Amino acid sequence: MHLVNGEHDSELLQAQAHVWNHIFSFINSMSLKCAIQLGIPDAIHYHGKPMTLNQLITALPVHPSKTLFVYRLMRILTHSGFFTLQKAHGKKFWEYAEKEPKVNHLFNEAMASDARLVTGVVIDKCKHVFKGLKSLIDVGGGTGTVAKAIAKAFPNLECTVYDLPHVVADMQSHDNLKYAGGNMFEAVPSADAVLLKWILHDWSDEECVKILKKCKEAITSNGKMGKVIIIDMLVEKKEGNDESTETQLYFDMLMMVLVTGKERDEKEWAKLFLEAGFTRYKINPILGLRSLIEVYP
Ligand SMILES: C[S@@+](CC[C@H](N)C(=O)[O-])C[C@H]1O[C@@H](n2cnc3c(N)ncnc32)[C@H](O)[C@@H]1O
Repeated sequence: MHLVNGEHDSELLQAQAHVWNHIFSFINSMSLKCAIQLGIPDAIHYHGKPMTLNQLITALPVHPSKTLFVYRLMRILTHSGFFTLQKAHGKKFWEYAEKEPKVNHLFNEAMASDARLVTGVVIDKCKHVFKGLKSLIDVGGGTGTVAKAIAKAFPNLECTVYDLPHVVADMQSHDNLKYAGGNMFEAVPSADAVLLKWILHDWSDEECVKILKKCKEAITSNGKMGKVIIIDMLVEKKEGNDESTETQLYFDMLMMVLVTGKERDEKEWAKLFLEAGFTRYKINPILGLRSLIEVYP
């Protein structure tokens, strides 16, 4: 990884991961509680030897359709050393946020705070990613912290923040920054590039493919050949960097419990791109736990 402000940026990103690990450390004990309530330690004990995931599911009061959830629960419990490897609100989170202004405000503030840190690094380290672009849509861009900074750094680039109507309702367009309300599952406005920062990890594979297809339509309309710019986690086991792996596993559990999403490794990302009709991608590992991925039709 090459960071412009060198050690300072790297220290900040590491400090961010450290803070996240402390915020989310309760997920370890909640995962253990969940395993005990499901009877996982007893099931393995009575089996008398290591079990495959399918054997475990058969022994638990869990429907086979939940197999992948149990796999992810076991993955974090293995990471935290409880097992070894040999072999919510009744509404969607976004609907809940729409009905609860306090939650909506708090969530948007948290996103904006992260966006300030990340955007500084992206503009510093990845200027080439925005070179030659005339228009950019920040899909799920929240209250516009990222798009505002990009619009300021690249005054000839027309930036549009595209998010759910209740998120952008009070936002004012100015200069080369506009706001538009809509649903990314229905349509994404046409542009040279679509930015998806911290969007796809909120959604299942099936939902991601739908979003990516809409983004592809947006960047290829009128014969254009634009690109999609993704900023998200790329799960990888980094030797000697247990804290980063731990953060990624915490986020994976959060995505499973709060929304329908997950954190993905490179193979899982590549599969999504292929299914949505893209032909190539380039990973820029500039953001600590997260990467900037350029995806091309
Ligand atoms: C995790 S936040 C990311 C915000 C911003 N991109 C960032 O990183 O700071 C996800 C965003 O997706 C938006 N969103 C959720 N469902 C959406 C939909 N169907 N269409 C457009 N935006 C949506 C949410 O309102 C929220 O602002």
